[in-house]
Amino acid sequence: MTPSEIVKQLDLHVIGQSEAKKVLAVAVYSHFRKSAKPNPDAVEIAKGNILLIGSTGTGKTLLCETLSRILGVPFATADATSLAQTEFVNHEIEAIVQRLLEKADGDIARAQRGLVFIDEVDKLKSVSGQARAASGESVQHALLKIMEGSQVRLHSGQYIDTTQILFICGGAFVGLQTILDDTQTYGYVSLSEDDSQKVLDRLNARVKPTDLITYGLIPEFAGRLPIVARLQDLSKAMMVRVMTEPRNSIYRQFHQMLQSDRVELAIERIVFEQIADLAMEYKVGARSLRGIFEELMTDVLYVIPDNPAIRKVVITSLFDTPRLLSAQGTDIVLVRK
Ligand SMILES: Nc1ncnc2c1ncn2[C@@H]1O[C@H](COP(=O)(O)OP(=O)(O)OP(=O)(O)O)[C@@H](O)[C@H]1O
Ligand SMILES: [Mg+2]
Repeated sequence: MTPSEIVKQLDLHVIGQSEAKKVLAVAVYSHFRKSAKPNPDAVEIAKGNILLIGSTGTGKTLLCETLSRILGVPFATADATSLAQTEFVNHEIEAIVQRLLEKADGDIARAQRGLVFIDEVDKLKSVSGQARAASGESVQHALLKIMEGSQVRLHSGQYIDTTQILFICGGAFVGLQTILDDTQTYGYVSLSEDDSQKVLDRLNARVKPTDLITYGLIPEFAGRLPIVARLQDLSKAMMVRVMTEPRNSIYRQFHQMLQSDRVELAIERIVFEQIADLAMEYKVGARSLRGIFEELMTDVLYVIPDNPAIRKVVITSLFDTPRLLSAQGTDIVLVRK
């Protein structure tokens, strides 16, 4: 698959985030290309592990999951915060590799070309005054080795070589923007081209390793994440699309659920906008959409199985009771028992 084909596939499931999709697609394409055709004479291409930066609920995990599914490679996730809470970091790391092997159905060669997603790496930042052994910093150190490529010994005695495993790290990095704003380097470079401002903006929007170090990552860890992609906060319009467009969007899921009871679900556009408005206030990205949607649907899902006369559900506002219609299109009024 070429990078553009990968992006096209990602577009079916993930709304927006075109920059991040492009960066991911190119990185993954180069990675799997070189691991697919080992050529002894070729220039050694260093591994381009990826860092995804974006607020909560903007699609980081979704992007990685979708990516691994369309590439058909085994995929394991880990949470950096739980790594930081255990005394036995190396056991946990071994467990990640073990999960990858399970996803590969025990096929070591496949596992060795898999994808590992480590979420919330921003929580590993070193906090001054905190003892190193108990801090995220020690987890960063532990992760260095497998990200670089090493032999991990599993419980079963098998060894997994992590050299060809692609690591994608994710994190919200709250406060990073302030660091970026303070370290804008390219303001004084003078370019004569018309689009110089665009070029400058692009350079300044780049997250530099030094910014990550200022944030609290250790230099070795930041250095092993050469590719950085940023996700945008979702706008209201994007939230509406998240609910309706993807293959398995919330709306489609409920639509199908009712269909199996032979009930048609009709939700007016304004309702999605009202839900998106609420979700914007909750500030957890698309994460709150499902909860709000379920709340709206609970009453409907409760009454339908007992009332086979209901053939259609019409929802015109988040704040009005859904209308329940019969096959003839007349309102069905339920008598509370
Ligand atoms: N860009 C998007 N397109 C489609 N759905 C999205 C998008 N962003 C988020 N979602 C939806 O929101 C849910 C949460 O997204 P996801 O798990 O990817 O968030 P995240 O960025 O990993 O957040 P966190 O930092 O909290 O882990 C997903 O299940 C998905 O349905
Ligand atoms: Mg996530």
